[in-house]
Amino acid sequence: MMTIGVIGAGTMGNGIAEVCAQVGQVILVDIDQARARGGLEAIGKRLSRQVEKGRMDEATKETILARIHPTGELKELGSADLVVEAALEDLEVKKELFQALGEICSPECILGTNTSALSITEVAAHVPRPERVVGIHFFNPATVMKLVEVVRTPFTSQASVDKAVDIVTSLGKSPVLVEESPGFVVNRILVPMINEAIFILGEGVASAEDIDTAMRLGANHPMGPLALADLIGLDICLAIMETLHRELGEDKYRPAPLLRKMVRAGRLGRKTKHGFFTYN
Ligand SMILES: NC(=O)c1ccc[n+]([C@@H]2O[C@H](COP(=O)([O-])OP(=O)(O)OC[C@H]3O[C@@H](n4cnc5c(N)ncnc54)[C@H](O)[C@@H]3O)[C@@H](O)[C@H]2O)c1
Repeated sequence: MMTIGVIGAGTMGNGIAEVCAQVGQVILVDIDQARARGGLEAIGKRLSRQVEKGRMDEATKETILARIHPTGELKELGSADLVVEAALEDLEVKKELFQALGEICSPECILGTNTSALSITEVAAHVPRPERVVGIHFFNPATVMKLVEVVRTPFTSQASVDKAVDIVTSLGKSPVLVEESPGFVVNRILVPMINEAIFILGEGVASAEDIDTAMRLGANHPMGPLALADLIGLDICLAIMETLHRELGEDKYRPAPLLRKMVRAGRLGRKTKHGFFTYN
């Protein structure tokens, strides 16, 4: 059975760990064991809800949970066949992690990052054997969303791309192949739209509820852009806009002032129970 390492047990990491545990053993790493355990608890709660709704039996839930090993130690990833990094959206953090992974993991291990918009080429540039570094970009919530962008840098070998595509397919996801570029495909289109909705809110053009209703009923979006921003995390939305603005250099990518203000206030969306909307 394959061993998959997941780094970061937050919003994305715990979802990715749950998906990966359906096909292999998972080592779930966070900066300390308590946070990694917190990620496993979140998975347990989610699976219990599936059992309550009759969508999963108790034995399957227990099998999935037993396959996930939470730890605060990166060096436990030595036996991994694939690593998916889902830690902070911060280039320096990712560079440091990948340099360490380059030493810890076997030369055959595929090193994937779930970054939303950062340069994977820059992350890979300092890793020994960078041909094994690839973007493996899941969408939120990772347990539900079918798409995974498999992102190739100038270093990535065809063998690594093929292996990543095969693993993603075995997880029941649909991969699309993308050449590395800021925001890849989905976030390059989606997050500027969310940012525009935040500009509209900041300008007082319409209320948060009405902006979301307008896009649900007028554009047939399943969820309004502000509720989606709360789901993604406003810090992540801001980090993506900053990357697009810096890398592509056009005014149309400037982050909305209200987005910055919300992040400074610690109102990050669902994960802090307070964003454009409030959550219990
Ligand atoms: N939130 C989304 O909708 C979404 C979607 C796709 C991709 N992403 C990307 O996934 C990554 C994670 O995002 P998230 O929303 O899960 O963030 P999050 O803040 O919910 O979780 C990040 C986790 O990483 C841990 N962490 C931080 N530094 C670490 C380190 N050095 N080693 C190990 N763990 C560390 C934190 O303790 C935290 O548990 C980011 O790169 C983000 O851009 C996010």
